[in-house]
Amino acid sequence: MSTHATVNIGICGLGTVGQGVWKHIESNRAALESRLGVKLNLARASVRDLDKKRAVRLPAAKLTTDPLAIANDPAIHIVCELIGGTTLAREVTLAALKAGKTVVSANKALLCKHGPELFRAARKHGGHFFFEASVAGGIPIIKALREGLVANRFKLIYGILNGTCNYILTRMDREGASYPAILAEAKALGYAEADESLDVDGWDTAHKASILAFLAHGTWVPVEKMLVEGITQVTQADLSFARENGYAIKLLAVITRDAESGQVFVRVQPTLIPSTKVLANVNEVYNGISVTGDVVGETVYIGRGAGQDPTASAVISDIADAVILLNRGNSHLPELAETRAALSPLQSITGRYYLRLEVKDEPGVLAKIAGLTAKLDVSIASVLQRPSETPGAASLILTTHDSNEKAIRATVRRLGKLSSVLGEPVLLRIATFS
Ligand SMILES: NC(=O)c1ccc[n+]([C@@H]2O[C@H](COP(=O)([O-])OP(=O)(O)OC[C@H]3O[C@@H](n4cnc5c(N)ncnc54)[C@H](OP(=O)(O)O)[C@@H]3O)[C@@H](O)[C@H]2O)c1
Repeated sequence: MSTHATVNIGICGLGTVGQGVWKHIESNRAALESRLGVKLNLARASVRDLDKKRAVRLPAAKLTTDPLAIANDPAIHIVCELIGGTTLAREVTLAALKAGKTVVSANKALLCKHGPELFRAARKHGGHFFFEASVAGGIPIIKALREGLVANRFKLIYGILNGTCNYILTRMDREGASYPAILAEAKALGYAEADESLDVDGWDTAHKASILAFLAHGTWVPVEKMLVEGITQVTQADLSFARENGYAIKLLAVITRDAESGQVFVRVQPTLIPSTKVLANVNEVYNGISVTGDVVGETVYIGRGAGQDPTASAVISDIADAVILLNRGNSHLPELAETRAALSPLQSITGRYYLRLEVKDEPGVLAKIAGLTAKLDVSIASVLQRPSETPGAASLILTTHDSNEKAIRATVRRLGKLSSVLGEPVLLRIATFS
């Protein structure tokens, strides 16, 4: 077995994350090299535009516009794919894996779209594919699930996985401002993308939940098989109800596994979570994840979910693992078992719900609504009537006892068609996690 006194690292993509990785390896070089017992050589980097101004300085000879040249360079041991997207990133990753190298990636989209193919290529050619930075930025949640909690089976994982949504909900709650007003500010501060839809409609969270579900249960749950709802319909009426009743509203990814059937279900929904729960108090751009294992009980992780420095921290932790494995001859890691667990059907998912309706302020409306919910087997726990901003209308807030996801969805559809209900009803989940 050959050990390497110097490990050569290639950084494909020297943007926000790539520059963070470069900067922190340079600034913490002495400590890192002493811990790992090797010299770390930042050998090459690729960019699209050689003339772009960058915060990190490197000799021109180290820069290329061809990331495949780095992936295929026999002198490079570890390739960091920090380009983003799924086309060039896949090509670069596969080329490096086929050459037996270890690839470190922060790319959740790549993993969700091509994960099985990349793991197969790593296995076949004796390298590894690491992706700690793809979920929850600086929080070492991948390592926790893969290594620290390996003794456990996971009946419940839930988390705040999108900093943009958490920032918007936190500010709306604190300041009483509307969703559009806070979104505009989040864009101005760079916390939200120009096209915010991937974040606020829940898809970014869904991709991350898919990765966590795979790590926990060995099964890829495509986002189309999840329930995915975003935060755009949340208003001050919902936030003030939550506050007054001891809850916070968070966009949660929830991954459950039924102990008897083994079926897995993944959903992303704005959820009223009791303020006694740690995650109810995870605010601003922070992420938080609760993992309940059958051996360990509940464990909770909090940290910055994105941004240059937290993401670089996760990438460098993967580089450190890659260095250790390289000097052990790239020995095999325990397989990520693909169990192909079945997915739970909607009718087996139950929970409590919050429903807000704008209704015509006229006699008999409540009776009609109660009649419909009873017919569809949804049992009402409480009803609150509030004045509406719309003249001649009232706002009704219903909470339910334990109900079935399929039944509540049918109820929302039918309520939306009643002539006395104005606009679309708003449905949120009430967390009943113990
Ligand atoms: N930013 C975060 O907070 C964060 C957090 C977690 C995960 N991630 C993930 O990390 C990855 C990188 O994100 P980022 O924010 O660092 O992206 P970024 O700032 O846009 O950087 C991308 C880099 O790739 C280069 N690149 C893009 N297309 C290329 C092409 N066709 N040919 C050659 N080079 C190309 C760019 O070159 P130029 O610089 O010349 O344009 C840039 O250096 C993504 O997968 C992202 O999802 C990001």
